[in-house]
Amino acid sequence: MDAEARGKSGEACPLVVPGALPGEAVEVVVEHSGKTARFARLLKVLEASPERTTPQCRHFLNCGGCDLLHASLPLQHHHKRQQVALELGLPLFDVAEVVPSPQAFEYRTVAKMVVGPGVLGSYRPRSHDVVDMSGCRIHSATVELVLSTARAHLLAEGPGDLRYLVVREDDRRRALVLIITRALGSSAADALASVLAQLPQVAEIRVQENQSPGDGIFSDGPERRVYGEAGAAVGAFSQVNPGAAAELYRVATELLAPAGREVLELYAGSGGLSRVLLEAGAARVEAVEVVAPAVEVAQAWAQTSPYADRFRITLGRAEEVPLPAMNYVVVNPPRKGLGPVAERLAALPIERLVYVSCNPGTLGRDLQVILQLRPDLELDSVVPVDLFPQTRHIETVVRLVRRSDVASRSSTA
Ligand SMILES: C[S@@+](CC[C@H](N)C(=O)[O-])C[C@H]1O[C@@H](n2cnc3c(N)ncnc32)[C@H](O)[C@@H]1O
Repeated sequence: MDAEARGKSGEACPLVVPGALPGEAVEVVVEHSGKTARFARLLKVLEASPERTTPQCRHFLNCGGCDLLHASLPLQHHHKRQQVALELGLPLFDVAEVVPSPQAFEYRTVAKMVVGPGVLGSYRPRSHDVVDMSGCRIHSATVELVLSTARAHLLAEGPGDLRYLVVREDDRRRALVLIITRALGSSAADALASVLAQLPQVAEIRVQENQSPGDGIFSDGPERRVYGEAGAAVGAFSQVNPGAAAELYRVATELLAPAGREVLELYAGSGGLSRVLLEAGAARVEAVEVVAPAVEVAQAWAQTSPYADRFRITLGRAEEVPLPAMNYVVVNPPRKGLGPVAERLAALPIERLVYVSCNPGTLGRDLQVILQLRPDLELDSVVPVDLFPQTRHIETVVRLVRRSDVASRSSTA
């Protein structure tokens, strides 16, 4: 969390001190002065906050995750609510209390690990050093079991040409594994796969070639399946905290109140929210998603559900596909937000828009664009959901409604 410091010419500027908490007296060493902030390393806590907890993880501040592990959950929630208020330019009381995650630890069902010499982990913040993440406190038990088995094998055999390891636990608690290598025929990948295939939890193992010089995990490279039957696409988007995602879908569905309505859903992934909207009585859901395997998962689910004739998902970019003129809309874009899709949305005859966002900064920017183009709409609900406990990240659900609907609701109240 940030503190305030004096810049070189005496001006006030934020001082970012990972591991410190508001109200604490700390000893730090400033390591970097940027244009808008200075960055310091915590040397000693002189006076601790009553909200400080002892981080039970030896990788704290090293692995790039869990940067709030030293703060109590109530303080984490307060901090996240403040961040949402700040980014949306709202007073704190306009932002609802944070909806907690059912699990504060062992909730993460997806791991994307870097394979380094003698380590399986993540990049240290602002570097390309790979930090080992054994014993991670937020990975689910199944994910951690697969990773620790892979780690033991890699320590004994060396990394070979392996680059990344992605493990995802599906809703049947089975592990789906993607081994990413420099060459599709990698013998190191086959050796690792034969060890992981011994675990009863592992349902599928695939190998993907990634020869790109950058550090993007996924590529368009060729893939082969080396074990098991085709499961859900490991690389397609999935919510990393299923318990909290259920809360997120509940909040979004309650705010949209889709019963009897036709709904347009952009950025639908593999249809997790679509399903809840249909279960809540939506007359029809027209969804859009750009990743083909995610669309296939959604279609496969819909075909075996009672909602087959009320659900359609189109493969394509929200920027380009024709958008049906629907009144009820829900969107859940990636971190970069809507971009030009904000203008496309504003041109629809929207009566109610629910926007689910993992980035309050881009959410604030997009809302400004939409509200400027559509002064007949207003923001009436902001609900943060703690999808990522122990980290600074927060998911937010907001609702825009027509002013005339608000006026008629309050005149009948
Ligand atoms: C934050 S996820 C939301 C997924 C879904 N709502 C869920 O809860 O699983 C964003 C989704 O948008 C998709 N996406 C990214 N860019 C897109 C675009 N330009 N057009 C359509 N979908 C896009 C991603 O593939 C991803 O599935």
